[in-house]
Amino acid sequence: VVLVVDFGAQYAQLIARRVREARVYSEIVPSTMPVAEMLARKPRAIILSGGPSSVYAEGAPGIDPALFAAGVPVLGLCYGFQLMATALGGTVEHTGAREYGRTVLSVVGKPSTLFDGTPAEQQVWMSHGDACSAAPEGFTVTAATDTVPVAAFENDERRLYGVQHHPEVLHSTYGQQVLEHFLYRGAGLTPSWTTGSIVEEQVTAIRAQVGKKRAICALSGGVDSAVAAALVNRAIGEQLTCVYVDHGLMRKGETEQVEKDFVASTGVKLVVVDAAERFLAALAGVSDPEQKRKIIGREFIRVFEQAQAELVAEAGAVGEDVAFLVQGTLYPDVVESGGGTGTANIKSHHNVGGLPEDLEFELVEPLRKLFKDEVRMVGRELGLPEEIVHRQPFPGPGLAIRIVGEITRDRLEILRDADAIVREELTAAGLDRDIWQCPVVLLADVRSVGVQGDGRTYGHPIVLRPVSSEDAMTADWSRLPYDLLARISNRITNEVRDVNRVTLDITSKPPGTIEWE
Ligand code: XMP
Repeated sequence: VVLVVDFGAQYAQLIARRVREARVYSEIVPSTMPVAEMLARKPRAIILSGGPSSVYAEGAPGIDPALFAAGVPVLGLCYGFQLMATALGGTVEHTGAREYGRTVLSVVGKPSTLFDGTPAEQQVWMSHGDACSAAPEGFTVTAATDTVPVAAFENDERRLYGVQHHPEVLHSTYGQQVLEHFLYRGAGLTPSWTTGSIVEEQVTAIRAQVGKKRAICALSGGVDSAVAAALVNRAIGEQLTCVYVDHGLMRKGETEQVEKDFVASTGVKLVVVDAAERFLAALAGVSDPEQKRKIIGREFIRVFEQAQAELVAEAGAVGEDVAFLVQGTLYPDVVESGGGTGTANIKSHHNVGGLPEDLEFELVEPLRKLFKDEVRMVGRELGLPEEIVHRQPFPGPGLAIRIVGEITRDRLEILRDADAIVREELTAAGLDRDIWQCPVVLLADVRSVGVQGDGRTYGHPIVLRPVSSEDAMTADWSRLPYDLLARISNRITNEVRDVNRVTLDITSKPPGTIEWE
């Protein structure tokens, strides 16, 4: 494992991902972890991340210099570079020479383990106030910029390296090469962490954890739970039962996709609970968004618990024990909930609709160490169809929060038809990978006058909400081609009954959220 020590900036996850893109497994640890504990994990290399502080600020996170004497290859980035410089006897000063954004870096020292084979001048991404003015003794200065004389240094013998810039950011043109040079040449690692090896490793781990007992998995129709289930199925097959609660609020064809494509590609044992009636009855007359969400969450738990109890009883009747619950928790959730150190007991995650917290099951979380793009790769490796692996995010409460107003069967039908047209056209235009998601919203409480054929209509508007985003925390509206918008609008007003107007939501997030409710 390569450990990425997180000094509190937003960069640690990105660094960990870039290391994995180099096919080397990495994990994030907090900078407060004692060095002895880091070393106990037998890391093959350590990377110190950037951070928001000045190394001289009061309470600034530090690093025990013992780390540099342990014989483990270390790469310091930005703040990590400055920490390294000060810890090893170099000088970091508050020169007032701030650098922020794109900067030209000149490679000065040759030969250089990190920079060999990259251009003498290259664009890098900088973000710092303090600057290193003298490298520690025994270190070669390998790069400089107009304002910073020591922008990188290395000591090959001790296998210690540092750069002032952020190689993990795409704006650093040769950043990935610099990271790979550290990993392959500096630390002598080989790129062996592949999707195949992840599957193998997880299958072994799941078998060891579950043994001869049985496990349940709640499928939501989303990528994460599908891949988690497929992985566990590969490991323990018959011992796994998946439960899919059909709340009647899915998009056209989605429940069928889970029933057919998922089962066909994995051979998973699936129980589909058709609870549409129950959800619709509970939602009758409700138009408040928060109330809708609460009702759906509550009903989901009840239905799932009932299915679970039946399975447990069934297994009990033949003398078996159902002891495990499979969840599609991802690495960012683990890191963000402070569990990055591998401690257990994180709370039940919301991605299957908020499971009860007093579970009497042990969790199986085979995706706990993976980023989203890696989950997709694993899904492909396991033979899941592209429609599942590349599915856009879809909210747990489903179409209920895309109908502004009360939810009825009729309104759901209308929205499903409009949504299917939008998805079809976006796919035909080859835009599925360019947009993050495109909610289609029915303003069921609004009517406007139109004219169709020779007659007056008084129908509902449909809102298109295409957005681009990296993490759904912020988003911008996607500039879809006018021709495509025209085609969508034409088709919806012609093919979907009761809709006589199509509008485009051109609000970023913030201030608008992605979903309307
Ligand atoms: P908002 O509307 O908050 O949505 O900008 C951000 C992202 O989260 C999705 N979303 C949900 N996902 N359960 C989910 O699993 C939910 O209750 C839920 N609400 C919103 C939304 O589709 C977007 O990707």
